[in-house]
Amino acid sequence: MDAIVLLREDHKTVEKLFKEFEKAGDEAYGEKRRIVERVIEELTVHAVIEEEVFYPAAREAAPDTEDHVLESVEEHHVVVWMLSELAGMDPEDERFDAKMTVLMENVRHHVEEEEKDWFPEVRKAMGRNRLLEIGERLEQAKQTATRDPLKVPSAQK
Ligand SMILES: [Fe+2]
Ligand SMILES: [Fe+2]
Repeated sequence: MDAIVLLREDHKTVEKLFKEFEKAGDEAYGEKRRIVERVIEELTVHAVIEEEVFYPAAREAAPDTEDHVLESVEEHHVVVWMLSELAGMDPEDERFDAKMTVLMENVRHHVEEEEKDWFPEVRKAMGRNRLLEIGERLEQAKQTATRDPLKVPSAQK
């Protein structure tokens, strides 16, 4: 699969979970806990494969977008720390919904920047064959990626 198509699919999966969370009732604690578990897994794996495979390849293909990549890593840093906090949090905690809301704002902003400005530039610079090759590496990296947000490379520093 084309690398950018694969990453967009991941973004869609996460957005669907966000919508489910927003629809869940205030006191649907069990449901919200389950949704958050899936958000943690999806976003952790997604951050790992972007940081280990896609970001370095994109940076090499489109060096002009280096600042964007570096800012993206800092945004991942914030997101994975929030995920690690949500992992251990009781959904009845008064900060749980607020933390999820801020996480969703951060992720939506990050995804919009990736998709609107950056992906088109990377697509142009990489070309179809390279995108397919990177897509295959992304799929492989998904199999072995950590599910622990604090083991994502950007969690450090
Ligand atoms: Fe990202
Ligand atoms: Fe992404």
